[in-house]
Amino acid sequence: MKMTRSLCFLLCWIFVFSVNCYRLPTNVIPTYYKVQILSHLGEPNNFNFDGQVWIQVSCQEPTNSITLHSQDLNITNDQVTVKDISSATPKSLNIENVKLEPQNDFLIIGLKDELLKDHRYEIFIPFKAELADGLKGFYKSSYTDEKTKEKKWLGVTQFEATSARKAFPCFDEPAMKAVFEIIVGRKDTLSSISNMPLVNTEPIKEKEGWSWDKYAPSVPMSTYLVAYIVSDFGYKVSEPSKLNNVTFRTWAKKDSLEQVEYAREVGPKVLEYYEDFFDIKYPLPKQDMVAIPDFSAGAMENWGLITYREALLLFDPKISSLTNQHHIASVIAHELAHQWFGNLVTMKWWTDLWLNEGFATYMASRAVEHLYPSWKSFEEEAVNNILNVFAFDSLRTSHPVSVPIGHPNEIDEIFDTISYKKGSFLIRMMSLFLGDDTLRHGVSNFLKKHKYQNAEQDDLWASLTDEAHKNDALPKNLTVKTVMDTWTVQTGYPLITVTRNYNKSTATITQQRFLKDEIRQKSDTGCWWVPLSYTNGKEPNFESAKPKSWLSCSESGTTIESLPGDQTWILFNIQLGGLYKINYDEKNWNLLSQTLNSENHQQIPILNKVQLLDDAYDLSWTGNLKYEILFDVLKYLQFEDEYLPWKAALSNVNSLNRQVKKSAIYGNFKIYMRKLVRSIYEKTGGLNLARAKTDRLDAVKHQVLIANWACRFDVSNCISDAQDLFKQYMKKPSDKNIISKELRSVIYCTAVRHGGEKEWDFLWGQYKKSNVASEKNTIMNALGCTREMWLLRRYLEWSITSNSGIRKQDSSSVFGAVAGNDIGFYVAKHFLNTKIKDIHRYLGENSRRLSRYLSSIASQTTSEEDYKELQNFVKDNNMYLKEVKKGVEQSLETAKLNVQWQHRHFSVVENLLRKHVEEDEEHSDN
Ligand SMILES: *[C@@H]1O[C@H](CO)[C@@H](O)[C@H](O)[C@H]1NC(C)=O
Ligand SMILES: *[C@@H]1O[C@H](CO)[C@@H](O)[C@H](O)[C@H]1NC(C)=O
Ligand SMILES: *[C@@H]1O[C@H](CO)[C@@H](O)[C@H](O)[C@H]1NC(C)=O
Ligand SMILES: *[C@@H]1O[C@H](CO)[C@@H](O)[C@H](O)[C@H]1NC(C)=O
Ligand SMILES: [Zn+2]
Repeated sequence: MKMTRSLCFLLCWIFVFSVNCYRLPTNVIPTYYKVQILSHLGEPNNFNFDGQVWIQVSCQEPTNSITLHSQDLNITNDQVTVKDISSATPKSLNIENVKLEPQNDFLIIGLKDELLKDHRYEIFIPFKAELADGLKGFYKSSYTDEKTKEKKWLGVTQFEATSARKAFPCFDEPAMKAVFEIIVGRKDTLSSISNMPLVNTEPIKEKEGWSWDKYAPSVPMSTYLVAYIVSDFGYKVSEPSKLNNVTFRTWAKKDSLEQVEYAREVGPKVLEYYEDFFDIKYPLPKQDMVAIPDFSAGAMENWGLITYREALLLFDPKISSLTNQHHIASVIAHELAHQWFGNLVTMKWWTDLWLNEGFATYMASRAVEHLYPSWKSFEEEAVNNILNVFAFDSLRTSHPVSVPIGHPNEIDEIFDTISYKKGSFLIRMMSLFLGDDTLRHGVSNFLKKHKYQNAEQDDLWASLTDEAHKNDALPKNLTVKTVMDTWTVQTGYPLITVTRNYNKSTATITQQRFLKDEIRQKSDTGCWWVPLSYTNGKEPNFESAKPKSWLSCSESGTTIESLPGDQTWILFNIQLGGLYKINYDEKNWNLLSQTLNSENHQQIPILNKVQLLDDAYDLSWTGNLKYEILFDVLKYLQFEDEYLPWKAALSNVNSLNRQVKKSAIYGNFKIYMRKLVRSIYEKTGGLNLARAKTDRLDAVKHQVLIANWACRFDVSNCISDAQDLFKQYMKKPSDKNIISKELRSVIYCTAVRHGGEKEWDFLWGQYKKSNVASEKNTIMNALGCTREMWLLRRYLEWSITSNSGIRKQDSSSVFGAVAGNDIGFYVAKHFLNTKIKDIHRYLGENSRRLSRYLSSIASQTTSEEDYKELQNFVKDNNMYLKEVKKGVEQSLETAKLNVQWQHRHFSVVENLLRKHVEEDEEHSDN
């Protein structure tokens, strides 16, 4: 690897004078592709396909070679042709040679004749290949027909980020946009779909019983958005919209076709919402959405032909939960948002992937909020995003939102929390400091200006700055770029320290990067343009999140004045508008904590409670705040009935749980937990779902969260109630109504944890039988809950065995489910240590998933010895971990910080827990 890489650099310097030797030269750019693919699916055991591609290119600079991408395709070199088509009489060029450079997936056509500037050429390349196994390129997927029990095959594409080159030779970079005309040949018993509408179908003369499906030429687009499918699926058409003429069809295998009803209804509504929001019509006449049985990502936004995992598109109202429904709506909305952000306007290079993913994530939460205001999902997603970002981005090994991408191998690793969630949260932050109208118009102008082209973040900043200055949303001497580059080009986020001077009624405000590592290093600098909003307990005003002032980068800090007296709290970051943590002086923390622990706790809105809980947890972890204060803040939860503060608190308590669960003080921790959860468990309804709640998504999620903790810590009768329900279900598996679909995850897991082989095998049988993907997922997670080591081991082995019933797409989820269980952790670790070679081989092109395996282990590694073991594991298995370099670094850092915590804070927490338990006992004695 090293050898070839340095050779590559050498060649570059010598021949191309460019370091980016993995990038295509720009002397020739494509304008029009005609791609003809003949799939042999339907012939017994023939998974081959034949292809021909005609690519029109325009020559920008004279050259005598053409470089494009090709991977895993058999090309017969002497059939490749290049013609000058600038004039009415095309002229063939003489080809010197056709070479493959596998290192960069390059196909290089060397010519004896020079290509001339401004001339147009047509390249013709015929090829043969096999439908891939690895869920990338043009690959095969299968399912079992319910009635005939026959295995059925389909061919489907997944090209993002760099797999179009596995399906046909092409200029596979996002900025090389062109028109695509797709022709698919398939057996008459199957059908095909592509990005554009079908123009006509005609029989293939030399192949009886087969036809060509010809599709309309596309709009100009990037290669990674091209798609086609050959299958025997069925579809349902949506009701025609009054506002546009887009034909909407939702596809699935015929056995699941009744489950497309929900998606069929939601899709067109979301599309209309975006047409209005962006003030740009959806440019294609149709949109297809397809549920694919084997799918690596969650979903893929191919223009006009969106593909999904089954669990993220199919919905059975009798079986799938409200949480599933929310998830499906969000994913549909995410992919449809990409039709503008990503498809219409595309990033110039993968460095700005966040423009795609951040916007799609943000817009989806707005669209879902628009359709279902009663779900209150916009706030929940903001909280979910910020909690994830706070955790991930406090690692030194995190990365900036706008991340330099060198070799295309590095692209896959940035489809992560930072691009999606931090990107989304930063857009929400802009909408709050610029005002929503400014954001909306700025974004709309940006899309209009760059439509059918590519853009980078500076182009977005420019459009937003214009709009902001027009509306006086920013001072004239401040640009969006000045502010936002500090957030997108730097890794991390700031910790704002607020120190009040109570005599002078002032406070000084400073910033530094927040890191989970207590040991600071020289490189830990950083400076952000921070929008400061704040209020106080005397005249609380949480209405406007507009910044009262900015903490700029040019100064070391700032002072604010006219604050209230020393009996009144102040609080920063209204509506969680900025991405930062806040530490106050101890006195102000105590004032806030007293308010939370009083009748007046409603004075502080939910989002700020979330921030206080999360900041108190993280700041005590890093030694910036006393653990006493954290426990005081947590105490207030006894008054709290809302979901989000509980969610924030328990996700943190979960990380504390991991730190103490293998120690002798765990008994005290359990007592503490039971007390924390007991009354809210009764309040949220235990394991009974109140009917009236069913459209309060937040209430349902709250109940599920609390029930999960109650059953884990043996609160009230949670465990025995769950077991009783499960027994009834085992007796009458066909009666789906015994166990509430919302609480199934908790009840299945609890019954399996406290059961044995019988319960496990029963549920495995249900898994195999179920035709509802979301139910299968719920069961899959529950099967990891058993405490029988051999069952866990067998389950892990099945996860990397073809035809075991677990699909390759789900291997890493099975591992995660096992590793998350106290006993399963040891089984999973042993499995990973001894089987990494097999896991790596089985995952194949999806080996990026290994980072999930590692992070499940690392998050629970808390002792020095286990950390050393992890380090050695990584060293010894370097060859299997090449594709997950960042994942390895992040896992090692996580484990290291867990160990650091043990040294620095364990004894303090031990004492506090003991004190809490003793106080409790005294109270109960009296
Ligand atoms: C591609 O070429 C390889 C090596 O010559 C051969 O083994 C394989 O069968 C070919 N594949 C197709 C689909 O023609
Ligand atoms: C839909 O198409 C019909 C027929 O082409 C046209 O009359 C109508 O105006 C279109 N509606 C919209 C909303 O574009
Ligand atoms: C912008 O102008 C204001 C008022 O004239 C000044 O206080 C501020 O420092 C200026 N900011 C920058 C970034 O130049
Ligand atoms: C504030 O005033 C009190 C009493 O007047 C004094 O003891 C204290 O030192 C002062 N604190 C500061 C920070 O000036
Ligand atoms: Zn996306």
